[in-house]
Amino acid sequence: MAGVECKSNDYGAAAYWDARYSSSGSHASAAAAAGEFFDWYQTYPALRPLLRVRVPVPAASRVLMLGCGNSLLSEDMTKDGYEDIVNIDISSVVIEQMREKHKEIPQLTYMQMDVRDMSFFGDESFDCVLDKGTLDAMMCADDAPDGASKMLAEVARLLRPHGIYLLITYGAPKERVPLLNQTRCSWSITLYIMPTPGYQLKMSKSTQPTMEEVALTEDGQLPTDYVLKDPESHFIYVCHKLAVKEVHCRGIDPEETANAN
Ligand SMILES: C[S@@+](CC[C@H](N)C(=O)[O-])C[C@H]1O[C@@H](n2cnc3c(N)ncnc32)[C@H](O)[C@@H]1O
Repeated sequence: MAGVECKSNDYGAAAYWDARYSSSGSHASAAAAAGEFFDWYQTYPALRPLLRVRVPVPAASRVLMLGCGNSLLSEDMTKDGYEDIVNIDISSVVIEQMREKHKEIPQLTYMQMDVRDMSFFGDESFDCVLDKGTLDAMMCADDAPDGASKMLAEVARLLRPHGIYLLITYGAPKERVPLLNQTRCSWSITLYIMPTPGYQLKMSKSTQPTMEEVALTEDGQLPTDYVLKDPESHFIYVCHKLAVKEVHCRGIDPEETANAN
């Protein structure tokens, strides 16, 4: 498993996350009241320009946040006009904390759930699925990459046609695109690359844009001459779920794909 695809084997284990979220030793409601939070990779203000374009308010009415943790992302999105964000996480500890913290925000709901089995939700019931760091955690689980594939199949099932799976990850295309394409190539993928906040701070005098769209090659890879400015950059995959008749997959018969759908 894993290698460069996983930064710590612990990240795949529910027990690790439960312990991490209760690490202050505090009761869930006390932790929530203390407003504890941690945002992996990037924050909403940094992602906002892309999100507002790709997930318009309020047209994309229903958003699913995978592995929400105690990130500020959902809260910030509701402050910015998003009206219905369902947050799930495998850790019952963090779900209880977040439910308590946001009990006065009706736009946010919280449920303890494993992303590998989201059968609680009906087919095509979301306009957008957001994932900041959760596929990465799945690539660290004992069942990787199978569990990650199960999660992606569930994401494809839950999205309405033309819905968006927005994946924010440290995984480069050579690791993530083959995984995404296992869902029978039902995605049209646009890639953005974003330096880490630390790198951006260091380069704050630079006039370069912080987020760059990079055209993938035909086989879904970075152009051979492409050089990452920040080697720790984050990759943002905007995966557009194609309607069945739009599916064009190398090596896969569209009819077979349609039957499988
Ligand atoms: C790297 S953290 C990202 C947290 C948050 N999305 C953020 O951006 O700050 C990964 C999150 O995924 C959750 N997670 C790990 N495995 C999961 C699974 N199988 N199902 C649901 N959530 C899971 C963890 O509990 C953790 O909150």
